[in-house]
Amino acid sequence: MRKLAALIAVAVAMVFFTGAVMAAPPDKMVLKGETKTKGPVAYNHKAHAEKVKDCKTCHHKDAAGKEQGCGKCHGAKADGKKVAMKEAFHTQCKDCHKKEGKGPMKCDECHAKK
Ligand code: HEC
Ligand code: HEC
Ligand code: HEC
Ligand code: HEC
Repeated sequence: MRKLAALIAVAVAMVFFTGAVMAAPPDKMVLKGETKTKGPVAYNHKAHAEKVKDCKTCHHKDAAGKEQGCGKCHGAKADGKKVAMKEAFHTQCKDCHKKEGKGPMKCDECHAKK
């Protein structure tokens, strides 16, 4: 009984420890906007994160030490300081693809057909 309690304590400690060091990013995600005028965008987070080593390249305001979704700060509309979510994604995604000379640039290469 005591052994089991100790094991549970270790397991709980490990969850807290790894959680504090880094949030586990999902491998694949589907990015969707609020207005839904365009089809959703399949995003391979794992492949991108393996190529672009520094999380902060994309998670550029990671002040809290946790990786935050872009929509936490970038809303449906620009607010004077921050660009709207659509611009935030388009700028970051397309600028890098352009710079790298790789990755999709055309609407339907990112957005699923509706
Ligand atoms: C490199 C990938 C990429 C390309 C290329 C791209 N988009 Fe997007 N777009 C996104 C992502 C990611 C979002 C945010 C998620 C979403 O809203 O679907 C987005 C959002 C949008 C939105 C807001 C949708 C909503 O439902 O709020 C519109 C409209 C849009 N894109 C139109 C376009 C058009 C038109 C083109 C071509 C000129 C284009 N996009 C090219 C990735 C891309
Ligand atoms: C090439 C750009 C890029 C890199 C590099 C990157 N991410 Fe992300 N990450 C994204 C995008 C885009 C999203 C989707 C955000 C959204 O849905 O608003 C995301 C989402 C996440 C989420 C889920 C956030 C949520 O919505 O709750 C976590 C966690 C995360 N990333 C962690 C990481 C970690 C840790 C690293 C470094 C190992 C990393 N990311 C590197 C672009 C990137
Ligand atoms: C904690 C809040 C916060 C989060 C989360 C956040 N941003 Fe931002 N973002 C800002 C602010 C504030 C600005 C205004 C310019 C600045 O201070 O860098 C900005 C500006 C931008 C810009 C414009 C930069 C330029 O050169 O004009 C882009 C593009 C952008 N963010 C993309 C993203 C993407 C993509 C994500 C998610 C991976 C994201 N942001 C997550 C707060 C945030
Ligand atoms: C910092 C650089 C960088 C950013 C930011 C970035 N990409 Fe990419 N992306 C790449 C590169 C490089 C490739 C080409 C990979 C290859 O061909 O080996 C790529 C390939 C892709 C592909 C085709 C291959 C695949 O993984 O399915 C899609 C789709 C894609 N990116 C979507 C996005 C979207 C959506 C965003 C924004 C949320 C984004 N990318 C942001 C660098 C970036």
